[in-house]
Amino acid sequence: MKFFIDTADVAEIRDLMATGMVDGVTTNPSLVAKSGRPFLDVIKEICQIVPGPVSAEVTATDHATMLAEGRALAKLAKNVAVKVPLTVDGLKTCKALSDAGTMVNVTLCFSAAQALLAAKAGAAFVSPFVGRLDDVGQSGLDLIADIVEIYEAYPHFRTEVLVASVRGPGHVVEAAKLGAHVATIPPAVLRQLYQHPLTDKGLAAFLADWAKTGQTILPAAPAAKKSKKG
Ligand code: E4P
Repeated sequence: MKFFIDTADVAEIRDLMATGMVDGVTTNPSLVAKSGRPFLDVIKEICQIVPGPVSAEVTATDHATMLAEGRALAKLAKNVAVKVPLTVDGLKTCKALSDAGTMVNVTLCFSAAQALLAAKAGAAFVSPFVGRLDDVGQSGLDLIADIVEIYEAYPHFRTEVLVASVRGPGHVVEAAKLGAHVATIPPAVLRQLYQHPLTDKGLAAFLADWAKTGQTILPAAPAAKKSKKG
């Protein structure tokens, strides 16, 4: 399963890239607004840090302007995935950009029917929002199961299921069990994935026992020479 990080915070992206866990990045207009930076500058900078797909979302709602925005975003870097909303105009734009060889991420997907349309429009990714579905009393993970099942029935579909609106490690693990291709994960949730109290407790016990042996794995560093002046 690929991990994208769901943020427009460049410092977070640099920090998490060093973990080797980051395969791509997703942004949206809300995350860009939160960054407080000019949109195009942020996307260009992220694309220089991360070699994988970097989603940048159009903000027009009509097909002609979405297409123009999508083409402008795609020119920023080879790894830009243009993000379009799951509307009629968004899917028309998806088809046109995908036919021209641009990666498209169809976002704001809340039903299996919508995901089917995104695949037919040639999307590289479809983004079902699991957390926002859970918030309204529907099961986000049931939607992931449905989409995975449908896409597997049609092997010519090239669209990857990109699990979005992830709220915790449980969403990531369950989506992985269902065979979703990608999860886009907020930085705080990615850090939570490392954690287990028994890891901390076990490590503390091992280190305490090791200290009792008085041993070191590496030779002790030579003592620093005293300065003659001193
Ligand atoms: C990612 O592409 C989505 O924009 C994002 O995951 C939405 O998450 P939220 O529901 O926490 O805003």
